[in-house]
Amino acid sequence: MTASAPGAPGEGGRPGARDIPVWDPLVRLIHWSVALAVLLNATVLDPEGRPHEVAGYAVAGLVAVRLAWGLIGPGPARFATFPPNPAAALRHLRHWRAGAGTVHLSHNPLGALMVYNLWLTLLALVVTGVMMGTIRFFGIQWVEEAHEMAFDWLMISVALHVGGVVIDTLRTGVPLVRAMVTGRKRVPAGARVR
Ligand code: HEM
Ligand code: HEM
Repeated sequence: MTASAPGAPGEGGRPGARDIPVWDPLVRLIHWSVALAVLLNATVLDPEGRPHEVAGYAVAGLVAVRLAWGLIGPGPARFATFPPNPAAALRHLRHWRAGAGTVHLSHNPLGALMVYNLWLTLLALVVTGVMMGTIRFFGIQWVEEAHEMAFDWLMISVALHVGGVVIDTLRTGVPLVRAMVTGRKRVPAGARVR
């Protein structure tokens, strides 16, 4: 892990702040492409049209690549770095204020649960979407309802996800959206890094 020397001015120019590379280009490309495809499917693309299906398949492919990357990619992208751990997520919530000086280089334990939820919900959307086009499930009411429910749950999750990103940014002082764009987390002086 490379970082400018502690105590020296970070690349952002703030004394003591460190810029630490965390998100590799593949993670960032997949994140913003998935967000764009979901946005298109939720707004401008006709749900009955071919482009809706194509955008949905693109999401499936992108999530599949990201899941493989979780096994073989660099440290911060690996599942082992942010395992789904509800107990750790609860602890993270409980120590909300006490942990204000700690910065997680990958997802924090609460964010990790949300990330797994987002991936599962996206996969549920794709599976129910594909099922609707099969002879066996064509016109079956519950499959359509499952697709709609998965979509509603995704929208709730994304709202919580973005809310969590904003709260964590305010709490830790690390601009997380910027990090998902540039790949580097700017860690304030004196913060503990995990
Ligand atoms: C449909 C919309 C979205 C979906 C499905 C989504 C999904 C995800 C997923 C799956 C991750 C984990 C990334 C990985 O490890 O590969 C993630 C991380 C992240 N997302 Fe989103 N996202 C969406 C929209 C947004 C938006 C609009 C923002 C900006 C406000 C945003 C900001 C972030 C940030 C900053 C992270 C990294 C969080 C951290 O540092 O732990 N996302 N998102
Ligand atoms: C990220 C992926 C996806 C998102 C966000 C998404 C979103 C949506 C939304 C918002 C609707 C409208 C639901 C309503 O009527 O209230 C819909 C309907 C539908 N979607 Fe998807 N979808 C996705 C993937 C797919 C895939 C992969 C397929 C098929 C291969 C698919 C096929 C359909 C079909 C057939 C309908 C019903 C159209 C109708 O008869 O009204 N979707 N989807």
